[in-house]
Amino acid sequence: MKALVLAGGKGTRLRPLTHTSAKQLVPVANKPVLYYGLEAIRDAGIISVGIIIGDTGAEVRAAVGDGSRFGLHVTYIPQEAPLGLAHCVLIARDFLADEPFVMYLGDNFLIGGIADLVDAFRMAHYDAQILLTKVTEPQFYGVAELGPEGKILRLEEKPECPRSDLAIVGVYTFSPAIHQAVRAITPSARGELEITDAIKWLIDNGFSVHSHFVTGYWKDTGRLEDMLECNRIVLEMIAPGVRGMVDTRSEVTGNVIIEAGASVERSVIRGPAVIGAGTKVSSSYVGPYTSIAENCLLQDAEVEYAIVLKGSTIKGVSRLTYSLIGRNVEVTRAEGVPNTHQLMLGDHSKVQVRA
Ligand code: G1P
Repeated sequence: MKALVLAGGKGTRLRPLTHTSAKQLVPVANKPVLYYGLEAIRDAGIISVGIIIGDTGAEVRAAVGDGSRFGLHVTYIPQEAPLGLAHCVLIARDFLADEPFVMYLGDNFLIGGIADLVDAFRMAHYDAQILLTKVTEPQFYGVAELGPEGKILRLEEKPECPRSDLAIVGVYTFSPAIHQAVRAITPSARGELEITDAIKWLIDNGFSVHSHFVTGYWKDTGRLEDMLECNRIVLEMIAPGVRGMVDTRSEVTGNVIIEAGASVERSVIRGPAVIGAGTKVSSSYVGPYTSIAENCLLQDAEVEYAIVLKGSTIKGVSRLTYSLIGRNVEVTRAEGVPNTHQLMLGDHSKVQVRA
């Protein structure tokens, strides 16, 4: 069995981070979202992984390499434009050959792994398996309508009036029958070859399609609030470990990881939180559900419920919360009068300041 991981796409809802970076590489508890998926694939006993890449392909290649770090063998498959999930299957035809495979959307975050799903598929010989979960806004997802015995009655991609609250999760298993389906369908209204339409084609043409419910936590990490929520969930599960330097005037409480080479001076860290290697926290407060990546500087700062990417500086700024801060960003205090805010922001940045 192989795996096909989708790491292309534009990530428009996470701009400006995704102007320069792949959405699948935004870190959750200081580890890129994509890595969690690759580890889940490896833990399900799959070694051969094809990764579909787009505009941000170079960055994904640099982060994942040949996959050996994860115990995987990775092949990269460039997609010339984001033409849909079923298009990814189409262009991966040679890589997938005639083997069954798991398709994993690289921005999906699933706790609990996929070993059960893969085992069930291996035993039952279905043509496709989909994962479902209840959501509050089904109109933003593929939606399934089930009959009384759990039979799939209908699948619709982002319906205006959803007939159920069951969203299709971005992890699927397929037999080679899917290759017939992706060749048979036509682009949707948004101009993409939808995997939901391909699965619908399988059902309509008498192939066996089975659904499972996700038992654990799942999130499509497309938006700021989703990233922060995933970060919170993962931080709640971390095993604490102080490998860096903490001086006697600092107070560290709750589940906190301080990586080797990080230093904390005259500060309060209230977990769950993680402080990356080489980061310096000085006269600052880091509150719950905060991930600070490596080589950052926090000085006279207060940050909580936030993700800060590597190389950033937060200095002389308090009450920073519910925030996602990119790489090598500087947030500092504006001195003097008049009492103004001074901003230099990338395209599509979002800033909320207290007047
Ligand atoms: C895709 C699928 C959709 C599924 C979702 C899960 O949507 O088309 O059916 O529910 O992933 O993350 P997209 O992220 O391409 O909008």
